Amino acid sequence: MQHTSLLLLVLLLIGNSILVLTEDKTSEDKKSSENKQQSSKELEDGHKPCKIRDVGEGRKVCVCNSEYCDTIPRPKKPSKSKFILYTSNKQGLRFHKTTGQFNKKHRSKKSEYDIHVNPDQKFQKVIGWGGAFTDSTGINMKTLDKKAQDLIMKSYFSEEGIEYNVCRVPIGSTDFSVRNYTYDDSKTPDKNLEHFALAPEDFDYKIPFMKQAMELRKNGPIKFFGSTWTAPLWMKTNNKYYGNGFIKKEFYQTWADYFVRFLEEYYKNGVPIWGITTQNEPSMAVLGLKDLPTVGWSSTNMSIWLRENLGPAIKKSKYPNTVIMALDDQKLFLPWYINSVFEDQNAKKYVDGIAIHWYLGVFTPCSAFNITHTKYPDKFILSTEACSGFQTSSGVLLGSWERGEGYSKDIIENLNCWVVGWVDWNMVLDMKGGPTTIANFVDAPIIVDKKSGEFYKQPMYYHLGHHSKFVPENSVRIGVTQRICGRIWVTAYQKPDRGIVVVILNKKDEDVTMRIVDKTMGVATLKISKRSINTVLYWYD
Ligand SMILES: *[C@@H]1O[C@H](CO)[C@@H](O)[C@H](O)[C@H]1NC(C)=O
Ligand SMILES: *[C@@H]1O[C@H](CO)[C@@H](O)[C@H](O)[C@H]1NC(C)=O
Ligand SMILES: *[C@@H]1O[C@H](CO)[C@@H](O)[C@H](O)[C@H]1NC(C)=O
Repeated sequence: MQHTSLLLLVLLLIGNSILVLTEDKTSEDKKSSENKQQSSKELEDGHKPCKIRDVGEGRKVCVCNSEYCDTIPRPKKPSKSKFILYTSNKQGLRFHKTTGQFNKKHRSKKSEYDIHVNPDQKFQKVIGWGGAFTDSTGINMKTLDKKAQDLIMKSYFSEEGIEYNVCRVPIGSTDFSVRNYTYDDSKTPDKNLEHFALAPEDFDYKIPFMKQAMELRKNGPIKFFGSTWTAPLWMKTNNKYYGNGFIKKEFYQTWADYFVRFLEEYYKNGVPIWGITTQNEPSMAVLGLKDLPTVGWSSTNMSIWLRENLGPAIKKSKYPNTVIMALDDQKLFLPWYINSVFEDQNAKKYVDGIAIHWYLGVFTPCSAFNITHTKYPDKFILSTEACSGFQTSSGVLLGSWERGEGYSKDIIENLNCWVVGWVDWNMVLDMKGGPTTIANFVDAPIIVDKKSGEFYKQPMYYHLGHHSKFVPENSVRIGVTQRICGRIWVTAYQKPDRGIVVVILNKKDEDVTMRIVDKTMGVATLKISKRSINTVLYWYD
């Protein structure tokens, strides 16, 4: 395949570079400054503050157990001309709320930290934010007692939490499982899927939590989307769950039917599925990274399968409106992989969106999304997987502010380049960053310690929350001065209730005074602390 060699070349380049990728660990805050602004009793507005713990070297987590967990209530609309500023920072503030006033005067003075917000300039509509219901997420939750499990679920899905609304669910096992399985592990080929059945993991670790999430979310449905890792061995050219294996041509239709069967079973069990991706990381079959369970797809074969099998199977099913997302792989494959899949209009017409992953993002300037968006304006781009600690499988680093910053920076950069949402990988992992079938330990926003019965909310949880909590589905990104002064990143939205949201990431080691300049409101002066993530909210009426 012409593209396979190009793919191999790219992957070889990455293979060398992956080893030198390290995290930004500069200027660790040595002082373990205690958080004085927030005490452990409930604040006036019902906000239960974070019980902060310094875990060493200035790294801080919020500690929760079956009795207590911090909350973040929905902000009430302030009186006209006021704004609300939420700050979380490396020093230990978490969703710390302050308010201030817009000033009609002093508009003429200019400062290098002015952010001009322009709601007349409108870009993409946001779909949302979330994480993945992996086997490992459910397994880890179940090591805690029921009350602690409920507090984790509330932290992610309730109005007192960060209000996730787009969540991924693996179709079968992934590397974040404790065994390898598919929904049809028949010893002999089973072309008509007579032995198709969901696994015990679906009933123990996924479906009950997904249903609980649906109940906790008061404002509309959760958009669940499914992704496959590996196919049954009998469908694959290499007869292995991992490695250089593809779907045998004679089973193209069976593999499409397998997706439809998954949709049917989940609906039957009370979990409606919004979408599917065509395959998680199809490039891994060529790279063979760490024995990752996968199915390989060249762009040309993907195009054929979409056109002949998957697209028609979904349209003919009971769920013809299921959203189909292509790629579901590293962004450095943009735009060529999608160009090649879309060359055939009959494949392109079945695809609603393009799914990208954050790994190796440094190799992909966000202009790649701009190019893709310009070429295919009616296909949304959604970030469907991200996690820290994947380099050399370093796993969990408790309290790493830098990993939180990594999330915010990627989110802001992506959303400033037409991406419509951002979905994290495992929502809950153990102290090591597992369990995983192939020892590729990674990090997650919530870590459980089954020995103490505690769970820890990492800075990544708050960074994601500064976006997910305040930028609901159907918000529209609006014009704003972007990426000011190197280590400050900014983006802005108008919410469906017409409120304005400005998110500011300050990676500088110094406090800065910034100003929001809005032609209707005037000027708001903001104290933005060093190493902080901030969300500003205001309304015109
Ligand atoms: C699952 O498969 C992987 C290869 O993808 C292998 O390395 C691992 O040992 C298997 N795990 C179990 C529990 O069988
Ligand atoms: C594409 O499909 C053809 C026909 O089934 C097969 O020979 C080829 O190996 C496939 N290539 C890839 C990379 O999947
Ligand atoms: C991407 O597109 C946005 C919106 O059109 C634009 O502001 C930005 O400068 C572009 N970025 C790149 C890197 O091309």
